Amino acid sequence: MPVEPNQVVASMADLLARSIGAAVTVELDLADDVWRAMVDPTQLEVVLLNLAINARDAMPSGGVVRIATRNLAAVPDALTAELNPGAYVSIEVADTGAGMTPAVLARAFEPFFTTKGQGKGTGLGLAQVYGFARQSGGTVRIVSAENEGTVITLYLPRTTEVADPVAIERLAQATGSRQRILVVDDDNDVRGVAAQMIEEIGYQVVAAASGSEALTEFGRASFDLVLTDVVMPGMSGVDLARRIRAVAPAMPLLFASGYADVATFGDELAAETVLKKPYRIGEVAARIGDALSAESTQ
Ligand SMILES: Nc1ncnc2c1ncn2[C@@H]1O[C@H](COP(=O)(O)OP(=O)(O)OP(=O)(O)O)[C@@H](O)[C@H]1O
Ligand SMILES: [Mg+2]
Repeated sequence: MPVEPNQVVASMADLLARSIGAAVTVELDLADDVWRAMVDPTQLEVVLLNLAINARDAMPSGGVVRIATRNLAAVPDALTAELNPGAYVSIEVADTGAGMTPAVLARAFEPFFTTKGQGKGTGLGLAQVYGFARQSGGTVRIVSAENEGTVITLYLPRTTEVADPVAIERLAQATGSRQRILVVDDDNDVRGVAAQMIEEIGYQVVAAASGSEALTEFGRASFDLVLTDVVMPGMSGVDLARRIRAVAPAMPLLFASGYADVATFGDELAAETVLKKPYRIGEVAARIGDALSAESTQ
């Protein structure tokens, strides 16, 4: 749908600042009267979050992330082979971090390519950014050099269509109404962080400290998704899932595990989505979005 890039960026500023921590400053450089772009607004948010988190990871001792929006009346010369003629909007995320070597730069968009340690990065962030840009009829470019920071620019086609007020309302309801998510983890800190992150993404959260507490909550209200830790004393996440599925067979479930190798949990989880702990906000947002949209298209 037609989306106001400045509005999306501005509305995310707080979330971005909180997700990337105090050592990194977020600066906005939003041009006046930026045109609308034809994109999926939720996906745009996830993409910007992914880019901001990459920037944070590249600046372990702090720095600046600058998000800039611009109107482009015509396709820049360097992109004419890739983009249809017309007007575009650019959204640029620049950081003052470590930058990329030519070897990393060459593979950065590749799915599963990551330089982050085991259990830290999935290497899907930039692949998702690329997929989003291409699906939207645009593209994305990286300019980066070692120790010279990174600039990632999304080019999105302009639309002159006006957002349908009904669609906006529906979106506000979907993100604002806020589907309800039951978050289960026996660790108070982990549960607190997860609940806060998921609330920031725009969902309503009920947190439970054990499988049995979760079942009580589950009986008390209706939920759209359950996110549970796998290893918990008493009832494990897998046992909890089995009990929930017994009464609600279609309930979307996400498992969270701190273990690198979830294969050790057996076939039970083979077909389920497992999030690696510590939670990464971009990934949490993406997996919840996937699980809820898979559910709604069934
Ligand atoms: N802003 C950046 N500065 C420096 N290097 C970056 C930046 N963004 C991405 N990279 C490099 O590109 C690689 C791939 O990025 P991508 O976002 O696809 O995966 P990831 O960040 O490693 O994992 P995930 O996004 O799943 O957490 C990173 O591992 C990193 O080496
Ligand atoms: Mg990433």
